[in-house]
Amino acid sequence: MKSSQKQVDLNAYAKKLVPLRMQYLGSKARISNWVIHEIMKSLPDTDCFIDAFAGTGVVGAEAAKNGYKLYANDIQPYSYCILQSMFAQPTKGLSKVISDLKKLNAISISSMFGPHIAAFVEEEDLYFSESKKEKLNWKKYRAFCEGTPVVTPTKEFILSKKTEKNYDLFINYYANTYFGVRQCIQLDLLRKAASQYPENISYHIIAATLAVMTYSVSSTTHLAQYLRPNSDSSTKNLINKRSIDIISNVIERLTGLSKTKPTTSTDRIFNCDFRSAICSIKPNINHVIYVDPPYFKEHYSRYYHVLDTFCLYDYPMLTYNPRTDAVTSGRYREGRIISEFGLKSSVRKAFSDLFKLGASHKTNIVISYAETSLLGKNELIDIAIGYGYKADTKEIIIMHSGQGQPRNNLVKEYLFICTL
Ligand SMILES: C[S@@+](CC[C@H](N)C(=O)[O-])C[C@H]1O[C@@H](n2cnc3c(N)ncnc32)[C@H](O)[C@@H]1O
Repeated sequence: MKSSQKQVDLNAYAKKLVPLRMQYLGSKARISNWVIHEIMKSLPDTDCFIDAFAGTGVVGAEAAKNGYKLYANDIQPYSYCILQSMFAQPTKGLSKVISDLKKLNAISISSMFGPHIAAFVEEEDLYFSESKKEKLNWKKYRAFCEGTPVVTPTKEFILSKKTEKNYDLFINYYANTYFGVRQCIQLDLLRKAASQYPENISYHIIAATLAVMTYSVSSTTHLAQYLRPNSDSSTKNLINKRSIDIISNVIERLTGLSKTKPTTSTDRIFNCDFRSAICSIKPNINHVIYVDPPYFKEHYSRYYHVLDTFCLYDYPMLTYNPRTDAVTSGRYREGRIISEFGLKSSVRKAFSDLFKLGASHKTNIVISYAETSLLGKNELIDIAIGYGYKADTKEIIIMHSGQGQPRNNLVKEYLFICTL
C-alpha cells in the first residue's frame, strides 16, 4: 500500500472563480485538482468520470476540464439543480433574462406582497441605515426580528398555498430567520421569475440563486441554524449578511454562466441514490466511480434544507418539537433525506453495496474520506478487499471548518484508489 502526503496551500482556493461558487461544507474545491491529478496518474486508461456524490459539482468540473466524459449524480434536489446548470443546460437566452431580472427590484412590494410586508421592509431599511451610521440600537433590531411573523404551516395552509401559486413561501417561512425581509422577497421574486422561463433558463436562475443563498444566509457556514441578534457585534454581522442584494449577486453569477457551454448532456445528470445512478449508467472498465459521501452524522440534508425548499418551492411541513410544542428552531422541512453514510448503523452496508456494484461492473472506484469520518481507514480498505479490490491510499492535509466555532482543524483527507 503506497501513501503520499502533502500540505495544501490553504488560501489558494479562496478566490477560485467558478460561475456557481458556493459556500459549502464538505466542498472539495480546494483539492479537486489534486483528486483529478491522482486519478489521472493512477488510472491512465480511464476516460469516463462518474461523480456519484457530486454536491456542488467542483470535482466533476475539474474532471470535465481534463477531458473526461462526465456523469454527475446527487440525491439532494438542490444539488441536482446546480449540476444541471453547471454541466448540461444550454445557456442560450441568458442575456435577455439578465436584463429582465435587473427590473425585479423596481417591483412594488406593496402591490405584490401587501402593505404590511412593505412596512416591514421600510422598517428594515431604517435599521440597516442606522447600522451603517453606527447608530443602531441592537435591542430594537432584535425586537423587530422577534416581532416579524413567520408561519407554523398546517395542512390547510399548505393546501391553500399550493392552489394559490402566490410565490410568497420565503416571506412566510423565513423572514428575519435565515434571511432578512427584503432578501425573502427577492428570493420569492427570483423563484417566480424562474418558473416563467423555459426549463434551461429556469435551472440557471434557480442554481445561481442557490449559490448566492449560501453566502447571504444569516448563519455561519451552513443552514442548520440561523443566527439571532444577541449583541452589538453579532447584530452588525447579521445586518452585513442581510444587506447583501441577492438579485444583483444572482445576475453576476448568471453573467458568468452565460459565457460557459454545457460540458455534458442532461441525460448524464442524475438525482437519485448512487445505486440507481450506477445501474442506469452501466459503467465498465473505462469508467471511474468517484465517491465523496457524507463523512458523519447529520451531514447535508439538515445543513441545506432551505436550499431544497427554494428549489422544490413546495410549502413544506416543518418539523415539530414536542418539548416546546412548536416548530423546531431550525425550521427544518419534514421528510428530509438522511444518508446511510451519515449513520454508524448503516455506513458499512452502504460501502459494501458500493463495492459490490462496482465489482459487478468491473469498474474502479475512487473514494474521498477524512480521517475523522465514521469508518476508519482500515475498516474501509477491508470492505474494498472483501469485494476483490486493491486499495492504494493517498493523503492530503486540509482545514476543516469548525462551523462558526473557534475550532477549525487540520484534518487528513484520504483518497482511496480502489482497483480490480
Ligand atoms: C461530501 S458531499 C459531496 C461534496 C462534493 N464532492 C463537492 O465538492 O461539492 C456528499 C454528498 O453526497 C450526497 N449523498 C448522500 N447520500 C447519497 C446517496 N445515497 N446517493 C447519492 N448521493 C448522496 C449528499 O447530498 C452530498 O451532496
